[in-house]
Amino acid sequence: MASYHTPVLLDEIAQLARCSHRIVDCTVGGGGHAEALLRDGVELLAIDRDPIALAAAQQRLGARVIQWLNLNFCDSRALAAVARFRPDFILLDLGVSGHQLDEDRRGFSFRPGTALDMRMTPGVGQTAAQLLRNLDQTQLDHIFRVFGDERRSQRLAATIVRRRHYCDFAISDDLVNAIRAALGSRAGPADFARLFQAVRIAVNGELEGLETALPSFVDSLAGKGVIAVVSYHSGEDRIVKHWFREWAKHCICPPGALVCRCRGRPLGDIEARKPIRPSAAEIVANPRARSAKLRVFRKADES
Ligand SMILES: C[S@@+](CC[C@H](N)C(=O)[O-])C[C@H]1O[C@@H](n2cnc3c(N)ncnc32)[C@H](O)[C@@H]1O
Repeated sequence: MASYHTPVLLDEIAQLARCSHRIVDCTVGGGGHAEALLRDGVELLAIDRDPIALAAAQQRLGARVIQWLNLNFCDSRALAAVARFRPDFILLDLGVSGHQLDEDRRGFSFRPGTALDMRMTPGVGQTAAQLLRNLDQTQLDHIFRVFGDERRSQRLAATIVRRRHYCDFAISDDLVNAIRAALGSRAGPADFARLFQAVRIAVNGELEGLETALPSFVDSLAGKGVIAVVSYHSGEDRIVKHWFREWAKHCICPPGALVCRCRGRPLGDIEARKPIRPSAAEIVANPRARSAKLRVFRKADES
């Protein structure tokens, strides 16, 4: 099972949760983090939108997990379940698992001949191929510019729209060839990985989901509870940083308000101003950890 996914920043996360008893793992994946968090006396609610991941975690952790949810963590049913659970630790380890990336039929990879699918919940929503065929040039430009940090996004979007007359963007090679045509022959694996990730973020509505879920999670958290988020993409990290800063503010009234009418106190504290990064040794052992950033927010005591 260790090969399903190598959990990132495992010791750091286990250390953060060492005094917690009611834990929600919003992205249980292969269950690596969850297993490390399941000490005696811990109750764990496990969520994943991917039924294949949930089944793998169920096989690994079995009855030690008290509740399993095969839902997007931003789904109103998941948010309600988390609120009822009243956790003192919430973990989000965003993005995709090693297993999702390694399984060609899931269609996340730019390995040659891979069908462009990329849906975290198989069978639900538009595939990457449908998205590349159906979106207009402005929407494609947005995906590559905003989610892919690509300065030649307009050229890439135009290349895809032009190629759609004779190419159905069914497999990875179609997108790789379009990227090469737009960015030049020096485009390589790092560009493919970044731009495939941008398409994946769009296919799964990943940033919108995070934006919706975080405010609800902080409300659900018990006093002194912790929310820990591992992000792998600058857009995800920006959202996490934004909400943590909002929650740490004393006053969130609009600028110029004469009288403070907001909560008038911070919801808690950001644990470390700078994100926690994997060590060099962890990155050598698990190169997929290299872009990880862990941010931690601790809610104030409510008593
Ligand atoms: C990086 S992996 C998590 C690995 C896990 N921490 C472990 O130790 O095995 C991310 C997992 O989160 C799931 N996921 C991503 N976004 C999600 C969302 N919005 N709702 C629920 N699950 C999500 C993916 O399906 C994937 O299984």
